Amino acid sequence: MPRLPLVSTVDKLEGAAWLDPAAGTVSRIVKRVLPQGTVTDALHGVPLGHPVHPLMVTVPLGAWVSAAVLDVLPGNERAAKTLVALGVLSAMPTALTGVTDFSQLDTQQQRTGVVHEASTAVATVLYAASWLARNRGNHGSGKLLGFAGLAVAGIGGFLGGHLSYRQGAGVNRNEDLPEEVPSGWHSLGPVEGFPDGRPRPAQLGGVPLMVLRREGTDGEDGTGTISVLADTCSHLGGPLHEGHLQETRGQLCVVCPWHGSVFSVESGEVVHGPATAPQPVFRTRVREGRLEVSLTGAED
Ligand code: FES
Repeated sequence: MPRLPLVSTVDKLEGAAWLDPAAGTVSRIVKRVLPQGTVTDALHGVPLGHPVHPLMVTVPLGAWVSAAVLDVLPGNERAAKTLVALGVLSAMPTALTGVTDFSQLDTQQQRTGVVHEASTAVATVLYAASWLARNRGNHGSGKLLGFAGLAVAGIGGFLGGHLSYRQGAGVNRNEDLPEEVPSGWHSLGPVEGFPDGRPRPAQLGGVPLMVLRREGTDGEDGTGTISVLADTCSHLGGPLHEGHLQETRGQLCVVCPWHGSVFSVESGEVVHGPATAPQPVFRTRVREGRLEVSLTGAED
């Protein structure tokens, strides 16, 4: 089936380096205003376990589409005006969640993202003008401005879909892990090959892992405590073994070197975003001096 011309145009956005200054400026401002912390985590969707922005988008878009339906039917001016207002008011917190995610995307994603943001900003302005016209009793102009706003919001929505489903913004990078890791225990080699105190890389078939062995007499054979996580950051795939360790909220955590997501070394839970999905954790044991791992939750 031939693709729509709009699809080719949007594909080209990913390579549009001329958008980088605008995208970089928005990203820097958002990071300065919203540093890593509880509020920013909530805006990313950390408590939900996936991004909150797609959920929020349904409110303004739903309100505006409903207003457009009422606008083509006679006698619904008051209800349509209320829905337009709901859309404009809900667009603001929705945009806040969107720019928070945007600030931690990669360059190609931000090129699409900045046009997506501009489109939705223009749509919101058109709907605000639509409400003002309706409020003055000029329902004809209000409807025209509303239809224009819906068209621009539709372009913004298309770009948002491209960003998520084609460019993978907001998806969990470890979703396929249970299929990639065979069930049972697998050797990663001699435990002495993983020196104490620093995250080390390891490979289980095609799956990259992060191994952290800590000094002590805990564990089997006095090999200390060993934690093994998927090495691919659930946010955008950063290599966790290149990150640094820190104590956060009383637990030992690894910080992703790409955008600073903080994961508990023990549980893999997200302590701070932008990641929203936890890191898969492996069970460990030592057999005859070799470190063995099994994916938590997998069958033995
Ligand atoms: S890749 Fe973005 S925080 Fe890890």
